[in-house]
Amino acid sequence: MCPDPSSQIETVLQEERVFKPSSSIVDTSNIKGLEHYQQMVEAARLNPESFWGEAALKELHWFKPFHTVLDWSNPPFAKWFDGGKTNVSYNCLDRHVKQGLGNKLAIIWEGEPGEVRKITYKELFEEVCRVANGLKELGIGKGDLVALYMPMVPEAAMAMLACARIGAPHSVVFGGFSSEALRDRLNDGEAKAVITADGGFRKDKIISLKNAVDSALENHSCPSVKSVLVVRRTCEEVAFLSGRDYWWHELIPNQSIDCPPEQMDSEDRLFVLYTSGSTGKPKGVVHTTSGYNLWAHLTFKWIFDVKEDDVYWCTADVGWITGHSYIVYGPLSNGTTTVMYEGVPRPSNPGAFWDLIQKHKINIFYTAPTAIRAFMKSGRSIPDQYDLSSLRLLGTVGEPINPEAWIWYREVIGAEKCPIVDTWWQTETGGVMISPLPGAIPTKPGSATLPLPGIEADVVTGDGKTVQANKGGYLIIKRPWPGMMRTVHGNPQRFRESYWEYLNPINGELVYFAGDGARRDEDGYFWIMGRVDDVINVSGHRLGTMEIESALVSHSSVAEAAVVGIPDDVKGESVVAFVSLETGRNSNDELISMLKKHVSQEIGAIARPDEIRFTNALPKTRSGKIMRRLLRALASGEEVKGDTSTLEDRNVLDELRK
Ligand code: WTA
Repeated sequence: MCPDPSSQIETVLQEERVFKPSSSIVDTSNIKGLEHYQQMVEAARLNPESFWGEAALKELHWFKPFHTVLDWSNPPFAKWFDGGKTNVSYNCLDRHVKQGLGNKLAIIWEGEPGEVRKITYKELFEEVCRVANGLKELGIGKGDLVALYMPMVPEAAMAMLACARIGAPHSVVFGGFSSEALRDRLNDGEAKAVITADGGFRKDKIISLKNAVDSALENHSCPSVKSVLVVRRTCEEVAFLSGRDYWWHELIPNQSIDCPPEQMDSEDRLFVLYTSGSTGKPKGVVHTTSGYNLWAHLTFKWIFDVKEDDVYWCTADVGWITGHSYIVYGPLSNGTTTVMYEGVPRPSNPGAFWDLIQKHKINIFYTAPTAIRAFMKSGRSIPDQYDLSSLRLLGTVGEPINPEAWIWYREVIGAEKCPIVDTWWQTETGGVMISPLPGAIPTKPGSATLPLPGIEADVVTGDGKTVQANKGGYLIIKRPWPGMMRTVHGNPQRFRESYWEYLNPINGELVYFAGDGARRDEDGYFWIMGRVDDVINVSGHRLGTMEIESALVSHSSVAEAAVVGIPDDVKGESVVAFVSLETGRNSNDELISMLKKHVSQEIGAIARPDEIRFTNALPKTRSGKIMRRLLRALASGEEVKGDTSTLEDRNVLDELRK
């Protein structure tokens, strides 16, 4: 079990500032005032099934309505909206075109070198149908897993929707992962096809995606993959294997735009998305059709309080859950104009984000605290050069936001008028779980505030008792919700054990453990304290320490490795690795660079350790468990506090201190 989070907070953050929604925001919001929110909470608590059932009928299109809202007879395996038939691409496209929104912009895309594409709902609908027909021509059908390894181009969203249209679950692999990591994910999911691009632009570099796919597939190492569809983006020279590789621009344009959507059962898989956990291997989180669709749709509508003409921008990559739920499915299901940006701010263009907001008159902006902290560091003179007056609402996601960054965001970017929604959620939850609703919930800098209606979140001790106000504990969810993950791909036991049996049942009911520690203040507001398991959060990216350790140990010089995250002003956490070498190997700078490079090759540059320290031995308990708590303290230059009596060899600590 993880260390009890209550032992981890010694000083409680004192944050007294409260920002109430202004009357103009309340008047124009869908959910007006605290009372309205509380009525919804009460309705969902008293009769969750009619609450979710009515929402599903109202918000989604059904080919056939469901007969049962929730089947929880075999917990933790939930069935939502059983008996119903729907299609997520229909909900994101066809219904809007039928309702006369065909000429509305669905996607505004800006490429890294600065080109812009504007795609209407009708154009997106037609292109998705062509891609869907193209996939069928490649032999892809209902139930076949299709992997995407793409840059941030509109074709990524089109491919996801095309998969949804024909009932082929997608598995998007972030384009920054290495070919090794891609290979593991292709094999775990037994992907039948890969959709990729020749390359992608990242900062001032080109990343060779197709080459990485070729290496992942070489020597028949992914036997399930039969075809590779390649978008031309960078125009780099790439190898082509006849009979396996196809260009998008040759296969897709000639396809018919007639592609009736597959009528999917509510519990048919929509996608698998891999995420890091506390064991070595990433888990394939499975999300299904209707529950996920409803969750992405409803949370987007509630939290961003979207209006008909809003232009909305989320800066994530489609390779992460935030991109799935809040670039593609949530906004498009609501008929909103969603902005996709291929680039990131770079030294040669530090105002890139603000330029985009000014140019496209963006109203809602959703980003990560790490980005805000980086902007803060380079000073307000950069954003001050741009007209950001179109902004109405700001959001953050991915990691806890410190009050200083929150206040800076409000003052400098939001001109003190935009509410901030600090949204807490995870790949596993499908969509946001705890967040302010802009017209209803007063905000406090650094707090994700209150759970959404229907979400029964709590903070408990290891034996399931609700902790007192301002004491730390485990963050749990007490009831199933429509957007919850359904299982770990190929490993239902892991789903049960890691999330639902981690803590004992409370009042006889299984509870979902999120992996995070939290505290609740006297107003019931949630303050997320970060992961309490072996997961670290670097620039909003979730990494398993064990994953990085396995990568290090796979190098021939390394005998053993332990990885910890230590606080970092901008990135949230940085990665420090303690490494003991095989006998006869010399520790030197060259080896440090080799090991860092090795981790990039095994996982991807996002996992590259910031620091590597060599040691003869690692501190372990008598039962052989590495004491990461001690390493974390040592790496951050803190005094080693707490119990060290279980340490097997106390000399190790002295040696490490040196
Ligand atoms: C962290 C990203 C504090 C948390 C959507 C969670 C947050 C993990 C917040 C999930 C927030 C996400 N405040 N911490 N607003 N949002 N987290 O799966 O530790 O990539 O468990 O999903 O990010 O990361 P994931």
